[in-house]
Amino acid sequence: MKILVINGPNLNLLGEREPNIYGGDTLESINATLSKKAEKMGYELSFFQSNSEGALIDALHASRTDCAGVILNAGAYTHYSYAIRDAIAAIKLPVVEVHLSNVNSRDEFRKTSVIAPVCVGSIAGFGKYSYHLALDALCYRFSADQEAKK
Ligand code: DQA
Repeated sequence: MKILVINGPNLNLLGEREPNIYGGDTLESINATLSKKAEKMGYELSFFQSNSEGALIDALHASRTDCAGVILNAGAYTHYSYAIRDAIAAIKLPVVEVHLSNVNSRDEFRKTSVIAPVCVGSIAGFGKYSYHLALDALCYRFSADQEAKK
């Protein structure tokens, strides 16, 4: 089973970008550790990062043909991109919203997520472990969906 992990704007700079907020790990090292965890759980991860809204939307669209779910850190687009929200709603795959930082304890504008209502759930505030928790949550969701079908 394939899961796509999508990271949005400025997340390519993890490691050097405001490490006091986002931690000192690079996106590459976060992805590598997450990949190992997924492998042990029997899932195959693929990764995509872009600073462009359209490219993120294209990646969401493409995921619908070969992925079972998506883990998405949309960065600042989280707070205002109705286009990304519509793409999530369109693909009908479970998408878990992720943030490294606790967006609810920061600037006012970060407390709004326009994508949250179309995601299966949201995880924020656990640094790089937010991605691990999102993977666990998605797998839980897969088994709950299987159970419901029985
Ligand atoms: C972020 C939180 C957003 O508010 C911010 O714009 C980011 C990163 C996070 O992972 O904590 O780019 O999504």
